[in-house]
Amino acid sequence: MWLPCGCTSKYVASSFARRILASHLHVSGRSRCNVAAFMPEAAGFEGVSGRAALRELSVSNSESFWAAVARHRLSWSIPFHTVQDCDLSRGKIKWFEGGKLNVSVNCLDRHVHTCPERVALIWERDERGSEMKYTYRELLEMTCRVGNLLRRHGVKRGDCVTIYMPTCPLAVASMLACARIGAAHNVVFAGFSADALAERIRDAQSSTVITVNQGVRGGKVIELKKTVDTAVESCPTVKQVFVAMRTDNPVTMTARDIAMEEEMLKEDVVCEPAVMNSEDVLFLLYTSGSTGKPKGLVHTQAGYLLYAALTHRYVFSYHDGDVFGCVADIGWITGHSYVVYGPLANGATTVLFESTPIYPDPGRYWDMVERLKINQFYGAPTAIRLLLKYGDQWVNKYDRSTLKTLGSVGEPINTEAWEWYHRVVGDGRCPVVDTWWQTETGGICIAPRPSDPDAEIVPGMAMRPFFGIKPVLIDTEGELLTSNNTSGALCMAQPWPGMARTIHNNHQRFIETYFQPYPGYFFTGDGAYRSEEGYYQITGRLDDVINVSGHRIGTAEIEDVVNQCPAVAESAVIGYTHSIKGQGVYAFVVLKKGIDVKEADLSRQLNGMVSEKIAKYASPDFIQFAQRLPKTRSGKIMRRVLRKVVESDLEGLGDLSTLDDPAAVQEIIQEQSVLSEST
Ligand code: WTA
Repeated sequence: MWLPCGCTSKYVASSFARRILASHLHVSGRSRCNVAAFMPEAAGFEGVSGRAALRELSVSNSESFWAAVARHRLSWSIPFHTVQDCDLSRGKIKWFEGGKLNVSVNCLDRHVHTCPERVALIWERDERGSEMKYTYRELLEMTCRVGNLLRRHGVKRGDCVTIYMPTCPLAVASMLACARIGAAHNVVFAGFSADALAERIRDAQSSTVITVNQGVRGGKVIELKKTVDTAVESCPTVKQVFVAMRTDNPVTMTARDIAMEEEMLKEDVVCEPAVMNSEDVLFLLYTSGSTGKPKGLVHTQAGYLLYAALTHRYVFSYHDGDVFGCVADIGWITGHSYVVYGPLANGATTVLFESTPIYPDPGRYWDMVERLKINQFYGAPTAIRLLLKYGDQWVNKYDRSTLKTLGSVGEPINTEAWEWYHRVVGDGRCPVVDTWWQTETGGICIAPRPSDPDAEIVPGMAMRPFFGIKPVLIDTEGELLTSNNTSGALCMAQPWPGMARTIHNNHQRFIETYFQPYPGYFFTGDGAYRSEEGYYQITGRLDDVINVSGHRIGTAEIEDVVNQCPAVAESAVIGYTHSIKGQGVYAFVVLKKGIDVKEADLSRQLNGMVSEKIAKYASPDFIQFAQRLPKTRSGKIMRRVLRKVVESDLEGLGDLSTLDDPAAVQEIIQEQSVLSEST
């Protein structure tokens, strides 16, 4: 792996960086020290005297708000001429047109000018106590070498590079190198199988893949290069695979493989950044939807970066000099926005966490907090629930006095986990921010902060919309719900710079999924409750997407795999409440007539197939073999009924009159009770 050496050649400012325009902010001159100290841009807004008024303005006059913030917080080589050009009814979203910039310059060069020796990355390697630090200067040099290497191997502006790597500095440098030369990146979570990786490489039409020889996680070696080898066999577009060395073990190299570090040594540490348009693609990131096919959401340059940076700064109250510890993997949107882009755009020190919460023991997170002096810790409820079960002693062993804010993301955080996080981990001193957002939203949309420092925080509630975010609730008839103490489909009434722009190669699906269900609004796919006080609480997905340990997976994706088994006639997969994972996977499977196999053997086979074709986390926790599935007369599987059966809510089965044959439900109930008794 590329190591920081601290003695490489001097950084030479590129001509591009010198061309960066100073930001222009039109300040009205009147003193508004309170709110201006909080957000300098606010000094330019007439009549804004507090945070609430600032938020109000960010929604009512979002163009002025975003224009000021974009001028102030990004470095442009050419300023934008149009703040926004959006039409939600047509799924058209454009921000900061006319503007030109480079994302890697914003994340690196400008900090190298002011504080080259500030630590940009702390790599908390799987091996406890072996962390490594990389300064902004070192990260820029590494990025430039990768950028030059990619360019030398023919990667051009507009190409898409697939990155299949664990969370490590070279993965970050690879993402930034793509941004530097104008290529898009497509990071695939390194827990995905060869099939899942291949599908994403093909859909993204990547000809270049970057990987490592082996990954290391929880003390186990993971053969990532072998997975890539298998994947690219079915990817005719792939011409070259760069292989970095995470471990010392050599791997078989083929003609298309390139030893990454060796080749990087030959490259210059200066790499001319491409001058990108605001709306050029920055990256694709695949996520699950309600069909079997994952969708490659597209994020673009300026709007995404600005939104990631602003949310990082304000939701977590990040201040210069803080150490920000988001333990997400870079393969998910949380890793993109709050490990890489948001923190680096703000010149932060950001932690790359390569391990697991319980390796080598359940004190890992808090030991890391003490060692790295982490000020903001951002993680997933599933890990908190798991650690809570191991007891307070694993937390109390370590000094956590540096912590200022605790964050939660990816799934609802139940009150017990929230309270424990707040009381034990944060010693009751740190605000806990339950942040709601999605791959599609690019950054946090609803969170308790920023608000007044002493504003109340209700456990388990995301509560308050961020600047420029206007959530609405809509009922099943499509009517806007205007009162409080009500629940409905969570939609956004206004565009914001961080939202996804399209689905790669499928703009029609983008429109159908997000903009057609409630015309004029962006539909999140989630339901929410708005309390008497106007706070938002997410109630869960309204579509066939489930959330296992904070990872999104479409039930249809799992069904597609299960149905490929020759013995299976049909299947229905649903999510059920799981005490640690949030949701577990429950599969109902109907076998073809005349099939004679042991159910236990078939269960093992089906679990193996799902791990192999998707990822381990998608593997069913329960498989129930059923005679038939409850269906409507038009043949649609009644998942609502199956969910009720699994959650043992027989009272709540609801109206069964549309069922083709209600006896099917009784059979399922019977079979389910036998299964629960035997486990
Ligand atoms: C769910 C992760 C409740 C939600 C950043 C959303 C949440 C999906 C929360 C997006 C939260 C995320 N409370 N549910 N604080 N945060 N979700 O794309 O269902 O991996 O639609 O993005 O996770 O998952 P994704």
